[in-house]
Amino acid sequence: MLAELEEIKTDALAAIGKIDNEPDLEQARVNFLGKKGRLTAASAGMRDVPKEQKKDVGQKLNEVRTAITEVIEEKRAALIAVRDAAAFASVDPTLPSRALPKGGLHPLTHVLNEAVSVLRRMGFALAEGPEIETEWNCFDALNTPEDHPARNESDTFYFENGKLLRTHTSSVQIQTMLKEVPPVRIIAPGSAFRRDEIDATHLSAFHQLEGLYVDKSVSLADLKGTLEYFFREIFGSKTEVRFRPHFFPFTEPSFEVDLKLHATGKAAKWIEIAGCGIVDPAVFEAVDGKRGDAAYDPGEISGFAFGMGLDRLAMIMYGIPDLRLLIENDVRFLKQFA
Ligand code: PHE
Repeated sequence: MLAELEEIKTDALAAIGKIDNEPDLEQARVNFLGKKGRLTAASAGMRDVPKEQKKDVGQKLNEVRTAITEVIEEKRAALIAVRDAAAFASVDPTLPSRALPKGGLHPLTHVLNEAVSVLRRMGFALAEGPEIETEWNCFDALNTPEDHPARNESDTFYFENGKLLRTHTSSVQIQTMLKEVPPVRIIAPGSAFRRDEIDATHLSAFHQLEGLYVDKSVSLADLKGTLEYFFREIFGSKTEVRFRPHFFPFTEPSFEVDLKLHATGKAAKWIEIAGCGIVDPAVFEAVDGKRGDAAYDPGEISGFAFGMGLDRLAMIMYGIPDLRLLIENDVRFLKQFA
């Protein structure tokens, strides 16, 4: 039996040595080590081996199995190495990788970044407030009475619990004054929502940039100077800015701000870009009432506020003809700003 085992080993090593592909190697493994293979068949002979030889024969059996298993594994590794080498031969690892498409900033983000950077240089700090607001923060505190059209079901998105999607970022004026004492100098960019029919110049979710400055003796001159400087920084020193008397419940006096646009080939025209005014004392009184102190005593302090449409600003800055382009996310459109 020892001789038979030695013969199986010699045969196996010779056969495996000649093999040059993986299927043949697997076949050889089955032939020698498989359930019906030669070594398995030979090991059945253990039954007839005399007791005193069983140990030696058993050892030989193990030795042969290990030897055959090892050469099979070595051969397998060698064949895989050859296969990999062949695969890599057709690849040039020194080639630069294919360029991934680069992301870019949305035009609104560009506009926002630019606006914020100008206003921060002027000393305004960024403030925030929630998009889901209370009626009090969005309307009552801003001196907007119960029967004001902006509060109508048909103009505003209400939740069942009475909260609403803020119709303007002016609610951040209130949020800020409830938390901080004067002097306050903040800007608050963010989304605002109205039940507007969507068309080229209206979106139901749009973007505003709110500003609020409260201190001792803040005047209309400060407001005018701030906004004129702002628009000239953004659109150039020759930009013409017009303040047109208007009405907002929370400012008195109030103005709408127009910019004069010189589109090539067309007559220059004024376009409305912001609302602003001197903070109405009623707003300060509402805030102090809620705070329970006199931090915003209208006899002591005054302020100005403004709110501008960022989507409109982007339209002007980039000559975008239709606001809907800003929300459709068509890559062909967005790519031009990346
Ligand atoms: N909240 C006003 C609007 O959405 C704009 C505004 C802000 C007006 C601040 C005056 C002061 O139209």
